[in-house]
Amino acid sequence: MMKDAKRVFLIILDSMGVGEAPDAYKWHDQGSNTLGAIRKHENFDCPNLERLGLFNIKGVGGGPADPAGAFGRLMEKSEGKDTTTGHWEIAGLVSEQPFPTYPEGFPDDVIAEFSRLTGRGVLCNRPYSGTAVISDYGREHIETGKLIVYTSADSVFQIAAHEEVVPVDELYRYCDIARGMLQGKHGVGRVIARPFAGEWPYFRTPRRHDFSLVPPNDTMLDRIAAAGLDVVTVGKIYDIFAGKSIPGTECRRTGSNAEGMKLTSELQKRDFNGICFVNLVDFDMSYGHRNDVPGYAAAMTEFDRWLGGFLPGMRKGDILMISADHGCDPSTPSTDHSREYIPLVMYGSGIKAGADIGTRATFADISATILDYLGVDKGKTAGVSFLREIVKKPKTISDIDLCAAAEEARKRSYSPYSGYSVGAALLCKDGRIFTGCNIEGPTFTPTSCAERTALVSAVAAGACNFEAIAVAGGKHGEAPSDCTPCGVCRQFLSDLCGRNLKVIYRSGGVLRKKCISELLPEGFDGMDGVN
Ligand code: THU
Repeated sequence: MMKDAKRVFLIILDSMGVGEAPDAYKWHDQGSNTLGAIRKHENFDCPNLERLGLFNIKGVGGGPADPAGAFGRLMEKSEGKDTTTGHWEIAGLVSEQPFPTYPEGFPDDVIAEFSRLTGRGVLCNRPYSGTAVISDYGREHIETGKLIVYTSADSVFQIAAHEEVVPVDELYRYCDIARGMLQGKHGVGRVIARPFAGEWPYFRTPRRHDFSLVPPNDTMLDRIAAAGLDVVTVGKIYDIFAGKSIPGTECRRTGSNAEGMKLTSELQKRDFNGICFVNLVDFDMSYGHRNDVPGYAAAMTEFDRWLGGFLPGMRKGDILMISADHGCDPSTPSTDHSREYIPLVMYGSGIKAGADIGTRATFADISATILDYLGVDKGKTAGVSFLREIVKKPKTISDIDLCAAAEEARKRSYSPYSGYSVGAALLCKDGRIFTGCNIEGPTFTPTSCAERTALVSAVAAGACNFEAIAVAGGKHGEAPSDCTPCGVCRQFLSDLCGRNLKVIYRSGGVLRKKCISELLPEGFDGMDGVN
C-alpha cells in the first residue's frame, strides 16, 4: 500500500438533484425535486446514505441527529443544466454561455464551410429522429454521396452515412473536421458519427462515435495531472472531458450502474494518489428521462447496498464524495433535466462527522476543495475550498508559509519614493491569509504600510479573528532584510487583532516571533479591540 497516499473518490449519481435551485424559474423547473420524488417510493431504502448525512442537507430533511459524514448542497453557476456543463463546473470550469442548439438547423455559412472541407454536399440539416433521418434521406445519400447532417434538442452535430458509401474511418475524419470548425460560438457539445448499413429502411451500426468539445479552460483534472498525481475515471467522465488530462488507460466506459460500481470497487483495492472520478448514468438515462419513479428509487437502493460494501474498504487518506450534476425529477411531466441544487455527502477517516457546509454558490467549490486536499494549486479554476470546514484537523500554516506569502505580497509594493518595499501576510483563525504591501503617494504622509494594507483588506472582507502576521521588507530588488513594524502599525494591529497577535519579522538578521503586546508594551488600550 502506498504510504500517505491521498485518494478522492468522487461519485456522480447522474441527475440526483435535491430540490429546485433559486433560479429554477428561468428554466421552468419550479417544484422539481428529484430526491424528494423518489424517496417516498417503497423501492427506496438507503440506510447508508442516510447515515452519512444525505437527509441532513439543508432543504432535504429527515436525517439522523449524529450523521457520520459531512454534507451540504451546491448551486449551479453555469448557464446550462446538461451533463457536460454540470461536470465541468464540478471540476472548476464555469460556462458563461450555454452550449448552442439549432432548432432551425445549422447556419448556411457553417454548412458551406463543412461542404468545402469535406468535398461533399449536405442533406437534411435540421432536428430529426435518428432512425427516421436514414429512412427519409438514405436513398438520396446513396445516389449523391451527400452527407446527412442533423441535430436534436441537444447541442449536437450528427453526421449519418452508409458504410458502403462513406467508409467509417472517412466518416470519423469528417467528424474531426466538423469538431475543428465547431468551436467558440458554434461550440456544440458533441459531434456524433452515425454510420448505418443494409437496404432501405437501413439500420444503424454500433460504430457510432462521439467527439466531445474539449474543455476550453483548465479543470481540476488538468491541475491534478500537471502536479504528477493520478486521474482515474469510470463511466462517461472520459468523454465528458474529451479525454483531456486523462490517460487512455484510465478511461473505463461502462454500460450500466452495476458495471460502474463494480469497477469502482476494483479501483478501491488499487494504489493510486489523486482522484477517481465516477459517473453512474442509469439514474438519468434509464429512469430520470423516462419518468420512472419506481426504477429510480430501486437504482438508489442498489447503489446504497453497494455503498455498504465500499465504506469498510476505505483507507486512511481516502475521501468519498457523493454528488450529482443536475436534477431530472421523474415525477414531473417534463422528461428533461431540472435546475436543482446538487447534494454533497463526504466521508473519510479525516472528515469531521456532522460538518455542514450549508449552501454553496457554485459546484466548483467541490474541485477547489479536492485540489486543496491534494495540495495542488488551483490555478485559474473556479470555486472556494471548504476543506477546513470538513476536516477533523485543519492544516496548520507554518511561519515559513506565512513569511513566503509576505514575500510574495512584497513584489506588489508601490514604493517609488522610498525605494523600500514591504509585504505582509495576515493569518486568520479560519485559515484564510490576507496580504498587503506598502503603497506610497507623492504626498508621503498618507502612505499605507504593508501591515495596515493587509489588515484593512482582511477586515473589509469580513475577517475578524486573527492569529499571526508576517512582515518582509527591504530595499527594492534586494532580499528581505531587517524590518520591524512601525509604531502606527503596532498600534493598529493591537487595536484590531488583540494583544495576543503573533508578529513574525526579521531583526538582527534572524526571524523572530513575538506577541504584539511585547512589541508595543503599554500601547494605547483605552478601548477594547475587535478580539
Ligand atoms: N513600511 C511598511 O510598509 N511597514 C512598516 O512597518 C514600516 C515601513 C513602509 C512604509 C514606506 O512605504 C516604506 O516602508 C519606507 O518607510
